[in-house]
Amino acid sequence: MSVAKSGRTRGRGLLVCIEGLDKSGKTTHSRLLVKDLNEMGYDAVYTREPSLGEVGRLIRKIILHGWRRAPPVLEAVLFAADRFDHVEKEIKPALEEGKIVVSDRYLYSSLAYQGASGLDLDWIMEINRFALPPDLAIYIDVPVEVLAKRMGEKRSVMEWPRIQSEVRKVYLKLVKKGFLVPVDGNRPVEEVSREILSLVLERLKGKGRLRV
Ligand code: TMP
Repeated sequence: MSVAKSGRTRGRGLLVCIEGLDKSGKTTHSRLLVKDLNEMGYDAVYTREPSLGEVGRLIRKIILHGWRRAPPVLEAVLFAADRFDHVEKEIKPALEEGKIVVSDRYLYSSLAYQGASGLDLDWIMEINRFALPPDLAIYIDVPVEVLAKRMGEKRSVMEWPRIQSEVRKVYLKLVKKGFLVPVDGNRPVEEVSREILSLVLERLKGKGRLRV
């Protein structure tokens, strides 16, 4: 399996995605990262998947807020369609303007969640071939038992410990293959956010864009 390469321009920007299980702190950390980067003078923007576009809204309505899981192929195809929309309408234009785009979930969520439902990871990659490879993909790891305590009574179709532990197995496999950089999320928020920021600054340094 290889991450898709795009021949099209990705501008001068930097694409960072933050991955993890439900309630792992992805949203908190994505937002903190954007805030920290903005305070340092970088032009960073927060975005998320499912996106706020039409397909993203459809996903929330028929996939996530239903009573039971949809067939895995339907989930995979809809998330890929939403990603296409997200990449074309939000990610690429921001990268072309030189921004740092922080995406709360991206391609690896499809590999982990739909892969955990039994779909072939290469097939999922294939239908996501258009997705720009991120400059940095971070996985916030939190054990399922810890997350189960954070989940209230009102759970989405994905938020069951059995599903989450299968999803975690795929995420850890992606870490092992070198696609995701792991960060231990079972620590105080400030410690985790400091580590995430330093990973991003390291990547900016590699691109010659570090501000001092
Ligand atoms: P969130 O908005 O709380 O992150 O929830 C989005 C849910 O959608 C979460 O349970 C993971 C799931 N999801 C997939 O199954 N595949 C995907 O490709 C994406 C982006 C999300």
